[in-house]
Amino acid sequence: MRIDKFLSECGLASRKEAAKAAKAGGVTVNGAPVKDLSGHIDPERDRVAFLGRSVEYRKFVYILLNKPEGYVSATEDKAHPFVTELLPEEYRRMGLFPVGRLDKDTVGLMILTNDGPSAHRLLSPRHHVEKEYRFTCKVPLAPDAERIYAEGITLADGYECKSARLLADADRMGGRITLTEGKYHQIKRMLGAIDNRILTLERIRFGGISLDKSLERGAWRLLTAEEERALLYGE
Ligand code: URA
Repeated sequence: MRIDKFLSECGLASRKEAAKAAKAGGVTVNGAPVKDLSGHIDPERDRVAFLGRSVEYRKFVYILLNKPEGYVSATEDKAHPFVTELLPEEYRRMGLFPVGRLDKDTVGLMILTNDGPSAHRLLSPRHHVEKEYRFTCKVPLAPDAERIYAEGITLADGYECKSARLLADADRMGGRITLTEGKYHQIKRMLGAIDNRILTLERIRFGGISLDKSLERGAWRLLTAEEERALLYGE
């Protein structure tokens, strides 16, 4: 791998910044300064240091974000704030993107990564990854809502939803709902199909990863090694 690509993939510097640092002797490979970053290294074997700090090669990064209201699930948007804006520059440079979408007004757990193949697998309907949401609604949930959702409700456009699990609050003005798919506005449309309306929606779980209550809205952290295993291998 080219040295400048390696440094930018590790999130340390853009190629331009890396070239500037290298000219000033700030990049070493196996202890020797290198001025020309078009040279190649083996990221698994060679020891690279940038501005005196050794660089650990991490091809893929997994981030847990508590998405705030008002942000779109995108890596760029001209009209609205977008979720990757909430990450520091060093991570944005690594090409992180959200694993699946939440609506602009939906809050809560969002995973961001630059691991395209895993994101694709996690979102594939064949994998049935559970997504759990906490919601409140406009009028009390119909008494048979649990059964209707469990049997698979048909939406206004004719789409037949997979079986979903509803756990209603005692007053039936909200609850938790678990899906194994993720169609456009799915929960809002599912509530619409039983003559109700979502007032607030928060994702609280994605597969084996739960929303970290200590993360404020808009805050993020890297997944722990244990969470990474739960996400990728369902352990
Ligand atoms: N269902 C919705 O309607 N909106 C979301 O953001 C997620 C699930």
